[in-house]
Amino acid sequence: MPSRLDAPQKVTGRAKYGLDHNFAGMVYGYVVVSTIAHGEIAAMNITAAASAPGVISVYTPFEPLELRAPASMLGLAVWVPLQDKEVAYYGQPIGFVVAETFEQARDAAMLIEVTYHERPALTSLDDGLATAEEAAPVVSEDPPSLEILAPGVESIEDALAESPVVVDATYRTATQNHAALEPHSAVAVWESGTMTVYSGNQGSHLQAMELAGALGIEPSAVHAVNPFVGGGFGGKGGTSVPAFLAAAASRALGRPVKAALTREQVFTATAGRAATVQRISLGADTDGRLIAVRHDSWCSTAADRSFVEPTSHGTSREWYATPNLAISQKIVPLNVPPTTFMRAPGEAPGSFALESALDELAIALNMDPIELRIRNNSTAPPGKDLQWSSKHLDECFRIGATRFGWANRAPHGRIDGDWQVGLGTATAVFPALRFPATVEVTLQADDAAVVSTAGADPGTGLLTVMALVGAESLDISADKVTPRLGDSALPPGGLSGGSTATASVGTAIMIAASTVIDDLRALASAPGAPFEGLDVSYANGQVLADGQSMTFGELLRAVGRTSLSATGSSAPGEELTKHSFSSFGAQFCEVRVHRWTREIRVSRLLGVFDAGRIINETTARSQLSGGMIWGVSAALHEGIEIEANGRFANGDLAGYLVPVNADIPDIDVHFVEYPDTLHNAVGAKGLGEIGVVGMAAAIANAVHNATGIRVRHIPIVIEDLL
Ligand code: MOS
Repeated sequence: MPSRLDAPQKVTGRAKYGLDHNFAGMVYGYVVVSTIAHGEIAAMNITAAASAPGVISVYTPFEPLELRAPASMLGLAVWVPLQDKEVAYYGQPIGFVVAETFEQARDAAMLIEVTYHERPALTSLDDGLATAEEAAPVVSEDPPSLEILAPGVESIEDALAESPVVVDATYRTATQNHAALEPHSAVAVWESGTMTVYSGNQGSHLQAMELAGALGIEPSAVHAVNPFVGGGFGGKGGTSVPAFLAAAASRALGRPVKAALTREQVFTATAGRAATVQRISLGADTDGRLIAVRHDSWCSTAADRSFVEPTSHGTSREWYATPNLAISQKIVPLNVPPTTFMRAPGEAPGSFALESALDELAIALNMDPIELRIRNNSTAPPGKDLQWSSKHLDECFRIGATRFGWANRAPHGRIDGDWQVGLGTATAVFPALRFPATVEVTLQADDAAVVSTAGADPGTGLLTVMALVGAESLDISADKVTPRLGDSALPPGGLSGGSTATASVGTAIMIAASTVIDDLRALASAPGAPFEGLDVSYANGQVLADGQSMTFGELLRAVGRTSLSATGSSAPGEELTKHSFSSFGAQFCEVRVHRWTREIRVSRLLGVFDAGRIINETTARSQLSGGMIWGVSAALHEGIEIEANGRFANGDLAGYLVPVNADIPDIDVHFVEYPDTLHNAVGAKGLGEIGVVGMAAAIANAVHNATGIRVRHIPIVIEDLL
């Protein structure tokens, strides 16, 4: 079995993504977006567009497609396009042109004239914070503020004032976009009252539910298919605008409709990561033990206030032992595109602030940054009674320090020719979570097995993990197991989000496999069966009794069956009342800053992770190194520049910088492997997101070590080091 089952199809171009599906009579939709940030659409002149060659229909808020806001599967409000004339951000979907060809649809879209009643727009987080007093756009939001104080301490301010060493600084992170390789897109086919949609998503059954709600039809009438997804990262957790529009247009027109966002539209017509401002105050004793932690965060959000980037709650709430803790989380509604889950929402930008502040505290204490972190290691989250089920963060740091040569780090870096070289480190923590999942395991008469669940593999390697856990649970070789995933007709799987899929789906596979084995044993000993009346055991793909054995395929054939299936479900439960659960890691990096040009090169990266059991080292390593590269990207490259009129100045992959191969050195990923069966039967704690956590701070800390310059925002650019 290849170390990644879908790799041959992907690298040879045979993998069929949503948009690769074609049907007779198919037509093409092109999304039209707004060119103001705030106001109301006064009129849309579609006369020229409607009579352009090949055009079949033009949909606008004046001639809308029938769509209603469905109940959210993710706990976020779902916006469906074209249902009103309000414009809340530049690049908002306001129309949909359907034509015989893609080019005709795009050409006609350019002919639409839109007039607006424009209103003043608030488009920058700094402006939003500055005008807070008069316009009061800043709102406290869920999760609510939290304060934990030691007995006798009156306030967090008192705790800080009484701390011998204090660091107080404000950090900023940029607006970011997922920029998944596969743009949000869909092919929708309406036929005899059934809607089939091929569209990349992070959970096919969730997409089917949302589309059913949007179309006002039964969930059983929607079939969502997404065996291959070109990246999700949270940005495909919900159903995309092209999927809603293609589905509604296909129903209206009775023809298959294909629609995709352009790369530029992906930046606005979906949802990205909020910009954040975070003030952190740390108080410590002279031995470096934290006395007080205060973390106040503000994040941008769209006018509909649909998402809070939980930076304070994602980091300071749980990372270090402290007797006094105060965290707050506020949103600043702006006329910008919606924000949503993006790879380690909360922890990614939050760790930049917290872990930069820890580094500043280490310097103030004249203490090694690793020693400081180990001294503040916690056995349970502050203020909670539940101890971590399994935590080996100190071991991650010890191993990492040795592998990385941390002992050679000088307090002010070192010089190598024209380069200033520095080392940095940071902690990474990401909660270990599970979602409900149901899996069907089928034993076949040809001695092969099928493991199926709706879900999705957005590129994480879940498909391969299913084959491996299936094989282990059935005690057969993995090449006998066919995993099926990404089809809403299959039993409802988990969401490929929140780093939960292996723990959720894996546990359900184990339960389903154990049930099907019990059923098989019963079948074998039933009246008239080969092992009638005997106590049948199962091992190695075989039923055994009285010194006789048969493979499960032989047994099924002997009793005249072609297959035997069972389902298994798992969901978070009682374990939540007994322990706290997280994955942990120690991030290391070496940067080189050029003495004259000030360019910043990352020359070495190491992540040591405690993520429980590792099911497939290849795909696990790939998830983590991918996350670490994303951290480099966040630290040195990514950031949306928003013009005053709300337009994204660099909303494409020419202007929105991400690292290329030449920016990334060899990456060392190392695991300390302690299966966590207190969390789930598989023992995996989740590793999709933790790779990005901490990395931006590790880089900023290395830049400080190399140059003596503390940059408190990301991305860090040349101008910051002049
Ligand atoms: Mo997750 S935010 O779906 O990578």
